[in-house]
Amino acid sequence: MIDKATVQKITDAADIVEVVSDYVHLIKRGRNYVGLCPFHNEKTPSFSVNSVRNFCYCFSCKKGGSPVNFIMEKEGLSYHDALLHLASKYNIKVEEKELSEDERRQLNERESLMVANEWAAARMEKALRDTEEGRSIGLQYFYQRGVTDEAIKKFRLGYNPDSGHALSDAAKLAGMDRKSLVDVGVLGESQNTPGSYYDRFRGRVIFPVLNPSGKVVALGGRDLKGGMAKYINSPESEIYKKSNELYGIFQAKGEIARQDNCYLVEGYMDVIGMWQSGMENVVASSGTALTDGQIAMIHRFTDNITLIYDGDAAGIKASLRGIDMLLAHKMNVKVLLLPDGHDPDSFARRNTPEDFRKYVQDHATDIIRFKAQVLLKDVGSDPQKRVEAINSVVTSLAHIPDKVKRNVYVQECSRILGVSEEVIEGAVEKSRGDVVERQRRQRQVDEIDRLDSNETDPQPDVSKKLRPSGSDSIIGMYPYYPMERTVIFQCVRYGLLDFCEVEFEDGSSGMISVVEYIAEELQSDDIWFAFPAFAKTFNRIIDLKEDYVNEKSVFDQNLAAEKKEMLQKGYEEIASQNMHMVEIRRAERVLEENVEEEMAKRRYDFARYYIEQKLSSHHDDDVRRTVMDAINEEQPLSNIYMRNNPVSERKMEVDRMRVLVPRGVLEWKNEMLNQLIRSKMNQLDSIRGYSNPEEEQKILMETQALMEKRGQLGKVMGDRTIGRKIK
Ligand code: UTP
Ligand code: MN
Repeated sequence: MIDKATVQKITDAADIVEVVSDYVHLIKRGRNYVGLCPFHNEKTPSFSVNSVRNFCYCFSCKKGGSPVNFIMEKEGLSYHDALLHLASKYNIKVEEKELSEDERRQLNERESLMVANEWAAARMEKALRDTEEGRSIGLQYFYQRGVTDEAIKKFRLGYNPDSGHALSDAAKLAGMDRKSLVDVGVLGESQNTPGSYYDRFRGRVIFPVLNPSGKVVALGGRDLKGGMAKYINSPESEIYKKSNELYGIFQAKGEIARQDNCYLVEGYMDVIGMWQSGMENVVASSGTALTDGQIAMIHRFTDNITLIYDGDAAGIKASLRGIDMLLAHKMNVKVLLLPDGHDPDSFARRNTPEDFRKYVQDHATDIIRFKAQVLLKDVGSDPQKRVEAINSVVTSLAHIPDKVKRNVYVQECSRILGVSEEVIEGAVEKSRGDVVERQRRQRQVDEIDRLDSNETDPQPDVSKKLRPSGSDSIIGMYPYYPMERTVIFQCVRYGLLDFCEVEFEDGSSGMISVVEYIAEELQSDDIWFAFPAFAKTFNRIIDLKEDYVNEKSVFDQNLAAEKKEMLQKGYEEIASQNMHMVEIRRAERVLEENVEEEMAKRRYDFARYYIEQKLSSHHDDDVRRTVMDAINEEQPLSNIYMRNNPVSERKMEVDRMRVLVPRGVLEWKNEMLNQLIRSKMNQLDSIRGYSNPEEEQKILMETQALMEKRGQLGKVMGDRTIGRKIK
């Protein structure tokens, strides 16, 4: 663990422009810098670096954040390691705090699994060349399949000797932790004699799977003796989620970006065959259907993907399998079928590299055209089948997010399928609505899944008067999620700005901040954030208060000194000019106003950006993400607002906080009351006739009271905070 003060030192020192400049050529544009986004492939820059607020953001792929986040993302590091990375860049000495037993275990686990895999891969690489058995069996096999020495080296191919205990013995000799080797599936532990180990990959040639930064996360071992399992692979572990990795990505990523295209094949040997034929921008999904995670990985380097399959029936079917998902990711997808019975590996061996490349170039077809043609061929004269085929194409079209692109395809498919454009377009647009809705729900589920694994920050001593009992649907779980989100985002964006002047109970008056206002509003009705990440973030903001007050007073002192200096300099300059007394007076007044304005601006900026400065590098993922989401999403107001107001009068959300903050809380409370009233009514319905009239009367009264409260809510909001009166 790095102690808090050092973390602060590092985040203070890390300058976003400097950090990003190590990876991106930045051009100054106004107060910001822009460049080509390092997280996805693009031709016009949408990556913006804000030097004042010390963060970066891609308006296209939405990645970015503080210097720490940038390094995490770019280098594939954990929060902790990203801090170390920056510390060494800025020569900051880090003394790590003693870890608790638990922390050490967690930290060490990933590390030791990586070490185990790297050791095993290196060992097997060596065994392929340095042992007689390796050469005569493993190397011989590779040569016989036409694999070159260059490819063997590039892909770090290896061999695990057949004795059954070669790796295990070597591990013991080398003092390797054999438990870790078991966890990554290189060794197995004997069930009968615990403490005795055997080689799981015995007698197999080895294909190490590297992650994008070149770390060995898994091994694949191919059988050479005609056994039942052609390949065995590493089991899933802390460092290996099969569905998130792509074989070959480390070797291919540079070329994928350069060619702006990625070939996707099925197997280890296919990658190597393509690579040897000079198509180095190739990865394999290792025989399974593509996943979202894999698509996202490819998408970091290009928008274009070409699927390559065997031209047999199974290959055709496979090629159609993942296309809706690819289209939804805004990928441009082509497909290429090899002659029946060939995979890229065998095709590469039958043809010269030039012929293979030419074949690929000539035969890659747009996936949608391909799908329409393939399905149509199947239809024959069966009208039912024809409808199914059309629907299936329509569904794919509906997954394309870009309307213009969709329409181009509508025209083409209408031609291929022999159905009018209007009909196809109508069906596509209708289906598009469903697709969007489904995707929205899925995102919500994903987000909740992600955050739900963290425990809730409890609200201090408050009974949950207004909190409805949960149901088990997603919205039922966090029924006020959208309203909570609005309110927490307001807190993050401008929570420390002065909100309004209030009169305290003792008759004195003073300013309260946005966060204080919101806290009081929530407390007055015993409301609290149900969504864990928001609750946590809100508490962290409240915790900042003390530091803020202290730092603010230092800041104010410095500012006062600076103000004096600025005025002094200004007065001197005015005095040094040859002016009349009246002009001097006027010039001095202008100077004073300017200085005052500058001071006000600095004070405002200090308050405005304090929260994001402190929390955008927070160690807790939930807090950091919530903060980054909030600041990156802040935009000028809605389209309607933008349209109805001349440019000069357009305001940022923060300029309208007087209106928006009370409205945010109001909508939240209002929705709670709505739901409460609804549930009372349901209750009333269900007991009517079955219970005594008093009971019924009681619920009726309660319902009415709630309705009244709802009626008053709008009126009282904004002109009361409990115990205080806004002046
Ligand atoms: P294939 O059966 O097409 O194997 O499976 P291949 O790559 O062409 O291998 P060769 O040419 O016979 O040597 C495609 C991919 O599916 C995964 C592997 O990643 C393989 O490369 N696979 C296949 C397994 O993981 N286990 C298996 O038993 C079979
Ligand atoms: Mn093969």
